Order: sequence, then C-alpha cells, then structure tokens
Amino acid sequence: MSHADDTAGNRRDFLYYATAGAGVVAAGAAVWPLVDQMNPSEDVKALAAIEVDISGVAEGTQLTVKWRGKPVFIRHRTADEIAAARAVELSDLVDVNSENDNLPGTDASDANRALDKEGVWLVMMGVCTHLGCVPLGDGAGEFGGWFCPCHGSQYDTSGRIRKGPAPKNLQVPIAAFTTETTLKLG
Ligand code: FES
Repeated sequence: MSHADDTAGNRRDFLYYATAGAGVVAAGAAVWPLVDQMNPSEDVKALAAIEVDISGVAEGTQLTVKWRGKPVFIRHRTADEIAAARAVELSDLVDVNSENDNLPGTDASDANRALDKEGVWLVMMGVCTHLGCVPLGDGAGEFGGWFCPCHGSQYDTSGRIRKGPAPKNLQVPIAAFTTETTLKLG
C-alpha cells in the first residue's frame, strides 16, 4: 500500500464513522423525548402525589413537608385552636372562599378548611398568598395561627387571612387520609 492510498483510506474511514456518528446522535435526539415521556423520572412521579406518615405529629405541633417544590403545613390542632377557628363569623373574614381544592366553591367556615370532621387536621400550602413567603407557624401572629414576616400578613388558626396585604386564605391542597395515620397529598 502506497502512502497516498493509506491516507485516502484513513480519510474514507473517518468520513464513514463521522457520518454514522451523526446519524446516531440525530436518532438519539429524536427518540429520547418519547422515551422520556413514557418513563417519567422520579422527580416527575414525585410531583403527582406523596404519602406522609403523620403518626408522630403531636397535638399542638406542625409538620412541614415539601411537595411539588413547595412547603405544606400539616397541623395537628389543639381543641382551643379548633374552637377559636370555629367561633369566627364569615363576615369577619377578608376571603370568604374556603380556598380548599377538595371542596371548591365552598365558604371559608372552618369545617370547610379542616381535613377531618372534628377539625383536628389542617393541611395547607405553606405559601403566603401575598408574594409567596413561607409564613411562621406555631401560634404566630395576632390571631394565633400563622404570621408572614415579609409584609406582615396575619392568618388565624384556620389559616385564613385576617390582617395584612395577603388577599387570600392559605390554600388547602388536594389531600386525603389513606389510613388513620397516612396522609396523601395530591
Ligand atoms: S409575602 Fe407574606 S406578607 Fe408579603
């Protein structure tokens, strides 16, 4: 084999592999989105629903979990908190909508906000309806519920906005008990 043939052969080989390589890349790019949709990543699955063990959440405390990238407050309310929430007249509220995704279109009475009939469990997005800060809990603020330090929004023991710039009650997400101690979000 002459030196010239050798060079030409190498070039042909190079072009061949380069073309084949480009073909593989193109096919890969075309196929990948379909495969990706058919096999959702763990992140995508996590968006759909999560189950939370609430057996360790003592009365008078709150568990905060992250769901869909946002905090969710799961409050085990005391009898006093429930009584305070249920004593409030709708006419005293800023937002008279329950803002409860489980009961759309209902009023903001505490019974329409709590997850169970007795009102022990209150589950809400931990996102201030003003500009999205995470309110402080554990009886914070003038109404014994939550207080958003960003601009001073005050929420009562039902998570309803009572004072400050926030326009809406804290949102209650889709949630349900799957067992006595397991809460499913989403
Ligand atoms: S973000 Fe909560 S008061 Fe402004």
